[in-house]
Amino acid sequence: MTVAMRVMISSEEIQAKVKQLGDKINAHYAQSDKELVLIGLLRGSVIFMADLCRAIEKPHELDFMTVSSYGGGTVSTRDVKILKDLDGEINGKDVLVVEDIIDSGNTLSKVVEMLKTRNPNSIELCTLVSKPSRREIDLEVKFLGFEVEDRFIVGYGLDYDQKYRHLPFIGEIGL
Ligand code: IMP
Ligand code: MG
Repeated sequence: MTVAMRVMISSEEIQAKVKQLGDKINAHYAQSDKELVLIGLLRGSVIFMADLCRAIEKPHELDFMTVSSYGGGTVSTRDVKILKDLDGEINGKDVLVVEDIIDSGNTLSKVVEMLKTRNPNSIELCTLVSKPSRREIDLEVKFLGFEVEDRFIVGYGLDYDQKYRHLPFIGEIGL
């Protein structure tokens, strides 16, 4: 099946941005003597995380969790459930949560709430893409790649029906 695909962010732009984010993250954590752990939310963050971690010089751990949104259907009742928890402890560590995209902010705000109860030294967020016009919850994303308009995008980890994650660019599909 062939689908129409419009490239929104090229592979070259993504790679340049990942390098810049890596530099900012290096500068931010250079002074901390705490252990650093990158937490990727499965599955969307995997491609970004793989490139980002190689742009970070400070030794760090990689860990992953899977969360799923569920609830009564209305925005205000949405909640987040842990489907796969972290393998390691985060107590006393600097935690950097890595996500493909922040949309309403619901997922990341719930994840941050859950992780805070485990007493890390710090928690910051890094997302490759943000759709600011869709935000329902105000969250500080310390390390942000691109802001995009309210369009459904795929590639570089982002899926439509679990497909297109492998694309090296971010594109819009003509559905
Ligand atoms: P939030 O909880 O509304 O911020 O939702 C974030 C999650 O929605 C992301 O982790 C993605 O899985 C998904 N998502 C939001 N927008 C898009 C998109 O344009 N393409 C693919 N997935 C998206
Ligand atoms: Mg996701």
